[in-house]
Amino acid sequence: RRLRGSQGGWEVRAAFRGARGCYPATGNLLVGRAPRLSATSTCGLDGPQEYCIVSHLQVKKCFTCDSRDPSLPESHRIENVIYLSGPHGQRTWWQSENGMEHVSVRLDLEGEFHFTHLIMKFKTFRPAAMLVERSADFGRSWKVYRYFAYNCSKLFPGVPSQPSGLVDEVLCDQRYSEIEPSSHGEVIFKVLDPSIPVADPYSPDIQDLLRVTNLRVNLTKLHTLGDNLLDTRREVLHKYYYAVDELVLRGSCFCHGHAARCAPAPGAPTSSVPGMIHGRCVCEHHTQGLNCERCEDFYHDLPWRPAEGSSTNACRRCDCNEHSRRCHFDMAVFLATGNASGAVCDGCQHNTMGRRCHLCKPFYYKDPSKDLRDPAVCRACDCDPEGSLDGGLCDGADDPARGLIAGQCRCKEHVAGPRCDRCKPGFFGLSAANPQGCQRCQCDPRGTVGEGGQCDPVSGKCFCKRLVTGRNCDQCLPEHWGLSHDLPGCRPCDCDVGGARNNL
Ligand SMILES: *[C@@H]1O[C@H](CO)[C@@H](O)[C@H](O)[C@H]1NC(C)=O
Ligand SMILES: *[C@@H]1O[C@H](CO)[C@@H](O)[C@H](O)[C@H]1NC(C)=O
Ligand SMILES: *[C@@H]1O[C@H](CO)[C@@H](O)[C@H](O)[C@H]1NC(C)=O
Repeated sequence: RRLRGSQGGWEVRAAFRGARGCYPATGNLLVGRAPRLSATSTCGLDGPQEYCIVSHLQVKKCFTCDSRDPSLPESHRIENVIYLSGPHGQRTWWQSENGMEHVSVRLDLEGEFHFTHLIMKFKTFRPAAMLVERSADFGRSWKVYRYFAYNCSKLFPGVPSQPSGLVDEVLCDQRYSEIEPSSHGEVIFKVLDPSIPVADPYSPDIQDLLRVTNLRVNLTKLHTLGDNLLDTRREVLHKYYYAVDELVLRGSCFCHGHAARCAPAPGAPTSSVPGMIHGRCVCEHHTQGLNCERCEDFYHDLPWRPAEGSSTNACRRCDCNEHSRRCHFDMAVFLATGNASGAVCDGCQHNTMGRRCHLCKPFYYKDPSKDLRDPAVCRACDCDPEGSLDGGLCDGADDPARGLIAGQCRCKEHVAGPRCDRCKPGFFGLSAANPQGCQRCQCDPRGTVGEGGQCDPVSGKCFCKRLVTGRNCDQCLPEHWGLSHDLPGCRPCDCDVGGARNNL
């Protein structure tokens, strides 16, 4: 995406914090990082080398470069660019080998940083052409920030030299490659050109443009004052090399607007070099990581986002009703709640379950007298599994709309009682295998006492009238006959003792 500005310029600001994002102070990223700075060419690394300087008057003076011992004043190693002068106040500089046109100076940072601008001070002529490029993925891929040349259309054909107003446009700048001055000329590059206004310098797109893990300056062409470098005579070559007094790569640690200061990264030397810009963000807004690139543990209710504009986009705590200390973010849940809440609690304790541990597990119910956050809020159901539906499940919570009563057991069709542990009147033989729980009594209504044909709820034996017998009360006692609805159920036989063998 290309970025277009709107109005108002932008200046690099020092540590800034308000109701919006917070941003650490900037400084020279090179300070404290000499071992991470390298150059592809340095004079005198293998032994003394002669070099000469030329003035306008073509008066020549020659000197020796010997970089074998970095403490010697003749040493011109790359780390000399970090400070303008050495420990004894002497001017120090880095110098490349004579006649070498393509030279790179590279800084490999230990993490992601925010780079705002470069200032390079040359001891001798500035390069006729150079470029500044960056990597944001530890050197896997590179992107040019800006080209510099005294004649852009000739040296970098196709690269525009007039800004069109896009913030991230790759331009060629002709202002810093003139042959004048012959010493102490500067090259300045700002990632955000103050002449191109940006609406919000803290927007994620702009922040991304400033993000670097590596920076490289390629010096690609020497000013040669009419000499041809193919002319390999010593007196010609010895006049041409790059020499840099000071390099400033200004920036800060990269914290996505979630930190106001930075501390040494793990593994980085903690012995503090004054002015060093450290790489580990001291994260706020409940974020964590070297660059505050993740939400802190238990702050996963919203997706992680960089601070943006007037909003901190702080991470939000999960609400697990004090039944869990772990949660994760689920985008599907977040979208389903209309971007209100995406937290899903993990490992709910105290017999709770659900996205926020707000429900009782099956076979538990929510005690209506207790707060949802009480560890004892979920109580075990007290239902007889033989007589209850679903193996003893009770209603989990009060819900008048659905007719649910917390803790209420739900009995099988022919079962009754608060625990569903008895057969309804007229039924017997409670059994888990019976989907209706109990079987209907098989009592003959004529021979049975009372209404409804009740039987023993366990054995199923019917309660017979006085003169009735049989499991189902469907037979008259011996010497009785005529099963009927009469009170005694049967009538005594009335056989004449004269004519009958007995009274059967
Ligand atoms: C800069 O120089 C390095 C070699 O030091 C080279 O690999 C890289 O391609 C150069 N960058 C550009 C944009 O030419
Ligand atoms: C830049 O180079 C081009 C092509 O070599 C040439 O036509 C043009 O005149 C040069 N511009 C300047 C300002 O020297
Ligand atoms: C909800 O969040 C998603 C992902 O961050 C985003 O793409 C979408 O536009 C948001 N929807 C609303 C209504 O804010």
